[in-house]
Amino acid sequence: MRLAERMQKIEVESAFDVLVKAKALEAAGRSVIHLEIGEPDFETPHSVVAAAKTALDEGWTHYGPTQGLPELREVIASYVSQTRGITVGPQHVCVVPGGKPIMFFTMLALLEAGDEVIYPDPGFPIYRSMIRFLDATPVPLPLVESRGFSIDLDYFKSCITDRTKMLILNSPQNPTGGLIPENDIREIAELVRERDLIVLSDEIYSRIYYSDSPPFSIASLPGMLDKTVLLDGFSKTYAMTGWRLGYGVMPEWLVDAVNKLMVNSNSCTASFTQRAGLTALSGPQDDVERMVAEFRRRRDVFCAALNEIPGFRCVLPGGAFYAFPNIQATGIPSRRLADMLLEDAGVSCLSGTAFGDHGDGYIRFSYANSLENLLEGAHRIKELSRRWTSSTKD
Ligand SMILES: Cc1ncc(COP(=O)(O)O)c(C=O)c1O
Repeated sequence: MRLAERMQKIEVESAFDVLVKAKALEAAGRSVIHLEIGEPDFETPHSVVAAAKTALDEGWTHYGPTQGLPELREVIASYVSQTRGITVGPQHVCVVPGGKPIMFFTMLALLEAGDEVIYPDPGFPIYRSMIRFLDATPVPLPLVESRGFSIDLDYFKSCITDRTKMLILNSPQNPTGGLIPENDIREIAELVRERDLIVLSDEIYSRIYYSDSPPFSIASLPGMLDKTVLLDGFSKTYAMTGWRLGYGVMPEWLVDAVNKLMVNSNSCTASFTQRAGLTALSGPQDDVERMVAEFRRRRDVFCAALNEIPGFRCVLPGGAFYAFPNIQATGIPSRRLADMLLEDAGVSCLSGTAFGDHGDGYIRFSYANSLENLLEGAHRIKELSRRWTSSTKD
């Protein structure tokens, strides 16, 4: 039996593959520092776990409404309205198992073969995978290191054609940790406002940022709410990656299509998980604040340590929990260097190329690990760097 042709086009996330390789080395007795996987190393807040337990005891164990529990959609709508300065209601909210299904459902609902999708490169690998899977055309939009990994607006303008159906934005970003500044987002909105296209604004890291003002959402701009799908969720903000709880806020005309895709695939999101999500969003936010403060502390120390490594140059990331140093000056290709770091130094990380061609010359480290491990990781890399510094001298 042969797999369907379309399976040739779907890709995987190499973070999971690298994790398997790193675990195998550990099983063979090697010490590995895990800086590959993109999930907070914090526990889900106790109040959220307690709410899930109560929900199970109360019998929230059955099918629920496909679109999500009305009480959760209500709370999400007011949270998104408040944080993005817009007015949306529960009718705009679709609750799904994680952030990823919003990408998949939105693209399934909207893309025809040959439609062009502009997406960030380097960017979350699932964007390109889904675009290709649906026979749409991926149009990579390079992120520019010297602009803090924002985009080149002239280049963006040159990417827009009559076939452009979708623009994917992600800020704060995976893998760079960069943010798209408000001014750039305003200019992007100017360029797309009059066009018949949809913006998928991936804001899954919306609460993990280090400046005084929160990341700016394109949905906040006049005329944009009607053409934006805002993706957010609980995975990163509340350290709930394994719970599978996310949502999209979208124009009402799209909700029915997303509901149909949900009913055909999942029926609904787990009811007790949604009850826990209600507590996460409406309860005290101290745990989130503590987590972000700790990420900031690690970012400062780890990026400084990376910048001490010969051949590494690391821009200070404004959000998420990733450092994305430029390693071109080592003279070693990204993929090779990522392998060397794992195999020879016991530091597990990802080649920038795992996030697209424009990730070449970079390595992604997740600093969702203890300060002690981060420093040990940086120390091991520095020790290993003697190899490339001595070979350059030879
Ligand atoms: C940019 C981005 N969007 C979406 C997701 C998916 O989030 P979830 O685990 O909620 O599906 C991730 C996870 O790593 C991500 O980095």
